[in-house]
Amino acid sequence: MSEAKIQTGPLVDPHGETRDDCAVIALKNVTREYAGHGSTVRALADATFSIVAGEWVAITGPSGSGKSTLVNLIGCLDRPTAGQLKIDNVDVASMTATELDRFRADKIGFIFQQFHLIPYLSAIENVMLAQYFHSMTDEAEARAALVRVGLGERVSHLPSELSGGEQQRVCIARALINNPPILLADEPTGNLDAANQTIVAELLQDLHRNGHTIVMVTHDPEMAGLAQRRIALSHGKVFCHPVGGPMVTLRR
Ligand SMILES: Nc1ncnc2c1ncn2[C@@H]1O[C@H](COP(=O)(O)OP(=O)(O)OP(=O)(O)O)[C@@H](O)[C@H]1O
Ligand SMILES: [Mg+2]
Repeated sequence: MSEAKIQTGPLVDPHGETRDDCAVIALKNVTREYAGHGSTVRALADATFSIVAGEWVAITGPSGSGKSTLVNLIGCLDRPTAGQLKIDNVDVASMTATELDRFRADKIGFIFQQFHLIPYLSAIENVMLAQYFHSMTDEAEARAALVRVGLGERVSHLPSELSGGEQQRVCIARALINNPPILLADEPTGNLDAANQTIVAELLQDLHRNGHTIVMVTHDPEMAGLAQRRIALSHGKVFCHPVGGPMVTLRR
């Protein structure tokens, strides 16, 4: 297997910027170990790669390979055991927990397989809750986010009064509310039927066209095919697929 030209050294674009200059997410030898239960689990081992602004990357790999661990780290919900993680050129290790909360609210929108909607709040209140964490609430803006995902007629519905696909669209509206540059999606279509999968896929394509950086965990080859690049995980180790090419390791 030949060594990949991409990723093994700094890429230079026609404007003279290296890939690292454009990186919005940059991992250098990032490891995450979980201690306990009499042994240590190395869920992510020595990951080194970068994702540039506006890129759409699919994270794939079998169950237990470390996908959610990686997404939780990129989402600043967790910290590496070792290595350096930079989001938008800021080393996340340099921030206090409070700074990190604010940084996360500014930079990252989360879309989860399990939606994580508050059951006793309406669709619009669930979206406004995300604004609340950003210390401002604007009902008109929350309504506009729901209209954007096609739920203008469902703003007062509770999650239990929405279909699975509609709940996922509320989750996407919530992720968009602070207009974060990075969207992290962990199995965004995992619980959806084909029709709703298509709606969510089209929404993600629209967001990508509008310049959002998307990092998406998926088991679905069709969804992975929408991304520009694939990062595959196996037993916590990272492999990168160049677009349309064979699987190659990021770093040996
Ligand atoms: N808090 C934790 N404590 C101990 N081990 C953990 C913890 N979280 C995850 N692990 C272990 O780390 C490994 C990677 O888990 P992770 O959730 O990242 O996998 P995944 O690729 O997202 O899997 P799936 O496709 O099933 O969601 C697994 O072996 C898991 O058992
Ligand atoms: Mg997972």
